[in-house]
Amino acid sequence: MEKVAEAIQSVKLSEDQNGVVILDQTLLPGLKKYETLTSANDVWDAIVKLKVRGAPAIGIVAAYGVYLGVKQLDPQNTKELHQGFLQVKEYLASSRPTAVNLFWALRRMEEKLDLTLSKGHSIPAILEELREEAELIRLEDEKVCEAIGKHALTLLEPGTGILTHCNAGAIATAKYGTALAPIYLGQQEGYDFKVYADETRPLLQGARLTAWELSEANIDVTLICDNMASIVMSEGKIQAVLVGCDRVAANGDTANKIGTSGVAILAKHYGIPFYVCAPISTIDLNCKNGQEIVIEERKSEEITTQWYTEPMAPEGVKTYNPAFDVTSHELITAIITENGIIRPNYQENLKEI
Ligand code: MRU
Repeated sequence: MEKVAEAIQSVKLSEDQNGVVILDQTLLPGLKKYETLTSANDVWDAIVKLKVRGAPAIGIVAAYGVYLGVKQLDPQNTKELHQGFLQVKEYLASSRPTAVNLFWALRRMEEKLDLTLSKGHSIPAILEELREEAELIRLEDEKVCEAIGKHALTLLEPGTGILTHCNAGAIATAKYGTALAPIYLGQQEGYDFKVYADETRPLLQGARLTAWELSEANIDVTLICDNMASIVMSEGKIQAVLVGCDRVAANGDTANKIGTSGVAILAKHYGIPFYVCAPISTIDLNCKNGQEIVIEERKSEEITTQWYTEPMAPEGVKTYNPAFDVTSHELITAIITENGIIRPNYQENLKEI
């Protein structure tokens, strides 16, 4: 597990602490290129362009972004620092709407700021504490993902055929991933899983990222197109579906990459357990149900031109490009968090965890 994760680290603070080094996920699998982001603007841009993507990774990079942004404002007093912080925070919060980890991490940074301000710390001390908090968010995420992996592994038999959608792997988190964490852990323990990765149209996170990540780790992975999930399930190749998620509402409805709800419906049809792997920071009890989750809508070009130099659709064709969908809690067998496995009734059990 450690070996795989060491090889792939998507977000970390630069050695001089003046930037955040990211693995540009838009260039994968062709190019493994790291880029140093040196401002809140860079961080915002990297999130919007999906250079950094995956709910936990977005939260981590945003926490570093707040630190960098405030530091660069070079505030002369704590009032200036506080105002600057709120502006940077609001700006970064406008980058993507669905993954609640973004807002969770920004709120956590604000709580840290409020605490240090209330203690009357100096500006250099406050900046140092903001940096430490962002580091802590990243380090905690490693432990959280490892714990999710351990809990999820208790639900899986050796040799299990696993279907996953999008990428909830090491590069979508600080390390290990959420849905892919039990796969890495299982590999170490000789589970010999057979993983099927949905390509995940339109941006191909399954093909470009999950298939790449798992191949790099020498895990048995088979890439399929999204519309092939039904046939592989009907052929008895899949015994469990594992996905990550961007937000869990109070009733257990979950938003994840577009296409996830279709996979859940198929899993129900074929009697296959459908597991959602999510850190507690992805649970949003303020959101009553899936209808309250804001679904990001992205540019037409992602459907019409993204992967070919020639247009893939007639010019000007009307498109609809929601980037996420909501899986009803009724289709979810269990939600696996770092604190344990939550089963229905989600309304009751999510509150307790
Ligand atoms: O648009 P993306 O690539 O950021 O979407 C990512 C997903 O849907 C992931 O499954 C989710 O964020 C969980 S990542 C551990």
